[in-house]
Amino acid sequence: MENNASISIENDTYNVGLITGTEGEKAIDVRTLRKESGAITFDDGYGNTGACESRVTFIDGEKGILRYRGYSIEELAEKSTFMESSYLVMYGELPDAEQLGAFRKRVAEAGFLPDSLDRVIHAFPTNAHPMSVLAAGMHALGACHPDKATNDRSKDLAGFDQSAAIIISAVRAIAARFYRHRKGLPAMESNPEMTYCENFLSMTFSEADNPKPIPEAVSKALDLVFLLHADHEQNCSTSTGRMIASGGANPFASLAGAVSALWGPLHGGANMAVIQMLNEIHESGDDGSRFIESARAGETRLMGFGHRVYRNYDPRAKILKGACDSALEALGVSSPILDIARRLEEVALNDEYFIQRKLYPNVDFYSGIILQALGFPPDTFTVLFAIGRTPGWLAHWKEIAEGPQRIHRPRQIYQGATERNYLPLSER
Ligand code: CMC
Repeated sequence: MENNASISIENDTYNVGLITGTEGEKAIDVRTLRKESGAITFDDGYGNTGACESRVTFIDGEKGILRYRGYSIEELAEKSTFMESSYLVMYGELPDAEQLGAFRKRVAEAGFLPDSLDRVIHAFPTNAHPMSVLAAGMHALGACHPDKATNDRSKDLAGFDQSAAIIISAVRAIAARFYRHRKGLPAMESNPEMTYCENFLSMTFSEADNPKPIPEAVSKALDLVFLLHADHEQNCSTSTGRMIASGGANPFASLAGAVSALWGPLHGGANMAVIQMLNEIHESGDDGSRFIESARAGETRLMGFGHRVYRNYDPRAKILKGACDSALEALGVSSPILDIARRLEEVALNDEYFIQRKLYPNVDFYSGIILQALGFPPDTFTVLFAIGRTPGWLAHWKEIAEGPQRIHRPRQIYQGATERNYLPLSER
């Protein structure tokens, strides 16, 4: 029957709903199941669980399709910019010239970090991981804007345009400020006349008394990396941000949690792990074959390969692979590890272990090579991922805040000890 499904549990059958998405994907609506049957669904890692209905991003992992608000990633990568795509992701439509101009202006004008946030960044030891600074910086940013971090939905939503501009602007400024703090360099202030990426590169790498011009090819390569990371539906960090937002938390707090979730090596930390892996392979003199052998044996993972959703080439990896050559040429640098990456990819794509498990390169396989060529140290790569993902996290915060308010609260199957009596310390 249309829009209907049934679940049989032991001797009883329960009718449940069937939800169909705009792209035809189907979900069994089990919201009434526990009430009617006493049973819950179990889905470790949420591989089969739709946690929400969303309008932001569509992925068909089998076909290798990724679209922001209906626009294909290939077309956006070719024709759009990170700023324009950020607007699209957050507000649902491509901006007209006036809307884009106003959005850029808001972001540019929000570029100066409050003094207390600057002090927070400088309070960190120089060997701190930049992701810990970004997570703390996001909370500190909210603390500097208490009128926009109220945890009152209607107030936080009313301030969204401004909060989004502040956050999008500040993530790059926090990253740049900490980069310079580690190097013992004086802070470079934001220059609102520059584009988003030029400004970030200038705040990071310029000498204070001799600001370097940023070659267009360099800022364009970074813009592409950011655009490709702008959203990726219900991944680990976005789901974390949505979970926090579901409790009514403000966008700054929700994004601080998302940043922490991104840090892990299976998620946003993979781009750093890929470069470490490629460097180790290069230094060991392996052409990649030995490494593939140990990945097949389950002794290690080929970082930058595999994805929970993509069972085909990650379309972002395809675009970045193509961009690697032109970016390196424009930068005038050669990268021995690019050859290793290509060789690893070729071997893996023809290897039974990887074919059987449908493991293909993901976005992180080639992004680190470009970021390294741009001059960023590997432990800043995940921060760069976070800068790119910020509009996506904000779009999901807005979607939750505008939607019906129901706190996210999964259930569990308890497998621990059954009831027992407390023993006094002397008897244990
Ligand atoms: N190298 C070798 N084997 C792998 C890899 C890999 N990179 N990825 C998965 N496998 C194997 C895994 O061992 C398992 O084999 P078996 O069935 O024999 O036990 C099978 O493939 C399925 O793996 P899984 O861990 O159940 O898959 P998952 O969907 O839970 O994990 C993943 C997805 C991305 C965490 C995983 O593929 C991985 O660890 N990849 C390397 C880390 C990485 O590149 N992460 C970046 C993801 S893209 C950026 C982002 O959005 O976060």
